[in-house]
Order: sequence, then structure tokens, then C-alpha cells
Amino acid sequence: MSIKIAPSILSADFADFGREIRAVEDAGADWVHVDVMDNHFVPNLTFGPPAVKAFRPHVKTLMDVHLMIAPVDPSIPAYAEAGADRLTAHVEAGPHIHRTLQAIRDAGMRAGVALNPGTPAEAVENLLDLVDLVLVMTVNPGFGGQSFIHMTTKIARIRAMIADRPIHIQVDGGITTETAPRVARAGADVLVAGSAVFKGGSVAAPQAYHDNIAAIRRAAAATQSGMA
Ligand code: DX5
Ligand code: ZN
Repeated sequence: MSIKIAPSILSADFADFGREIRAVEDAGADWVHVDVMDNHFVPNLTFGPPAVKAFRPHVKTLMDVHLMIAPVDPSIPAYAEAGADRLTAHVEAGPHIHRTLQAIRDAGMRAGVALNPGTPAEAVENLLDLVDLVLVMTVNPGFGGQSFIHMTTKIARIRAMIADRPIHIQVDGGITTETAPRVARAGADVLVAGSAVFKGGSVAAPQAYHDNIAAIRRAAAATQSGMA
């Protein structure tokens, strides 16, 4: 699977999301990663369905919504109505992840499942027929700009479990030109990056966004070609 770069708007200007989304997509983003945080499942609060609905008309690629919330199920209809293309829920967010993923698909969205660094790969073994994405967190969720946590063994184990199913492995947290090759070599194909994409740029000076996205993609793709 070719490498996709999904900038996280957690690192964007919170006063200018519409223009920031358009700027990173013009700069080469494949998806837009939207980090929803409830200050309960994670110690931070970002935005909810009304904001996601406001982002929707600005997203021309794919609105990849990462729910760092608990519980998940009561909010699923609101994110479907807001126009999320994919909803990714954390295994750790409640006791019935299998039902949650069914409910996301029943609401007409693609379903993804996310694992915190402390959760073993085996947690997704019985979920692979319900998702088209497994998100392996490479930080403890809640903030951008944190240090990368090595998850390459877990990524490789999940890639082996997936076998030839068309399922993405997404990594999220501390992804830079230095860490991108490691996760790509292990089997990740969708790289979420916040600070590494938005650093040094702005809506008024988006060239940095383009250069940052291209550099991360190049670093990861070089490893993939090495794998061939
Ligand atoms: C963290 C979020 C990540 C974060 C990544 O809880 O899920 O998407 O925004 O930010 P960086 O790339 O700066 O680590
Ligand atoms: Zn995220």
C-alpha cells in the first residue's frame, strides 16, 4: 500500500481551521486527521460534532476522525451527521468495541480501531472483519509534539494478522522524517503527523507544509522501496 500522509489539525491554528485544512490539502495531504478529545478519555479537550460539521465543506480528501472519547456509541450518529468519512474508536474506550465498530458501519462510515501504546496487538484479532484501518498510537494520546514511543514489533504483528486484507495500519504521534522510516518498514502505510507537518508554516506561508509533507513521505517511501 502506498504511503499516505494525514496531517493532524490538532497542530493547526485553532482560529483558522477552514483555511488551514485547505492549505495542507493543497500542500499534498492525502487525508485530514481530526483529533476529537473529551477531557475524560484523554486529559485534553478539543472539538466535537459541530466543529467537525464546520470542517466538512473545507475537506476535499477524506475526513479521518480519531475519537479519543468514552463512551463512543452515543456520539456516533452526530459524527455521521457531521460528515465524518471514517470514525476511529479506541479499544480502551469501553467494554463493547465490537458493537461500537458495527454501529459506526451501520451509520454509514468507515470504521477504524485504535490501540494505545500499552494495549497488545492481539486486542484487534477479532475485529479485522469490521475495520479498514488499525491505528497504532505511538504516543499516549492527548497532545501533539510528544516523543515517539517505539511500536515497531506491534505494527509488524498487526501487519501479519491483517495478511492480505485491504486494511490500513495508521500510526499517530511523534511521526517525523526520523521516525517515519521505522514505522513504514514495520508495515504502517498511513502516517499521522501534526507538529512535523505544521512546523515553520502558516496559511500565509504554506510552502513549509508542502516541504514537510514531502519530506515525511520521501523518508517513509525510501524504506518501502528498500523493502521491495
Ligand atoms: C495525539 C493525537 C495525535 C497528535 C499527533 O493524541 O492523536 O494525532 O496530534 O501530533 P504530533 O504529530 O505532533 O505528535
Ligand atoms: Zn490522532
